[in-house]
Amino acid sequence: MKSYSTESNIKYWDQWNIKYSDVWKTTARQIMSKKETGLISKELRKLKATNILDIGIGNGRILEILNNKSVPKAKIYGIDISGEMVKICQNKFTNQFKIVQLKTCDLSVQGLPFKVKFDLVTSIRVLKYNANWKKMIKRVFDSLNPGGVFIFTMPNKLSVSGLSGDTFSDNNSPIIYSNILELKKVTSDTGFSGFEVLAFSKLPNFLYHMSNNRFFVKLLLSTETVLEKILGQSLFGRELFVICAR
Ligand SMILES: C[S@@+](CC[C@H](N)C(=O)[O-])C[C@H]1O[C@@H](n2cnc3c(N)ncnc32)[C@H](O)[C@@H]1O
Repeated sequence: MKSYSTESNIKYWDQWNIKYSDVWKTTARQIMSKKETGLISKELRKLKATNILDIGIGNGRILEILNNKSVPKAKIYGIDISGEMVKICQNKFTNQFKIVQLKTCDLSVQGLPFKVKFDLVTSIRVLKYNANWKKMIKRVFDSLNPGGVFIFTMPNKLSVSGLSGDTFSDNNSPIIYSNILELKKVTSDTGFSGFEVLAFSKLPNFLYHMSNNRFFVKLLLSTETVLEKILGQSLFGRELFVICAR
């Protein structure tokens, strides 16, 4: 299957750099982002996690919610394969005392550069760029405290985007698809329990970038709501959000 090598993955994200924030700028994408970060906030409230890790920090979209919604004594760590992304987040979160360390690390070929065990690990829209994503899941498992929770995403082959062979990444990078059954098996074979899966969209990504027109966005989101009512939250979902525990 075509996917990035480590070198091209690094080069690609180094070049993408600060511009990655732009893919979250349309009204529909902002609403989607709120739903995604809302899920993470909910888990933070439930877990009261102290040691937290974000894998694939990008421009800090997830780090920001971890920083804002975690308990005051939380210690937050982050990694990214791209040194440029790490620099962006180091600048963005200077003086944020909960953010302890942000490091460059390729989890597909290296272990984590921290000696800490974690209560919560997030990796949102990251594993799909890595051919050995299953090995990365195992590395996360080994880094968790007993009862620690892992929230990650993978795109769903059984979705309009997956079935139409969309490389849907906003930047046209090759990605790997999975499906609910495979994710359930992979997490359970790794030793995780408590598999929960959610999705926040079923319609293709390009529609989320098409227009900021108020009526168009309303129609798009109402269609998603109707589809969710008929099919449930995860069936034919585009990006699958998995919550599992060690
Ligand atoms: C699509 S961005 C997502 C950023 C952030 N998680 C978010 O949801 O906004 C993917 C990020 O994962 C990073 N990444 C991809 N493969 C990685 C790997 N093997 N190890 C660490 N980071 C990786 C990329 O450099 C990029 O910053």
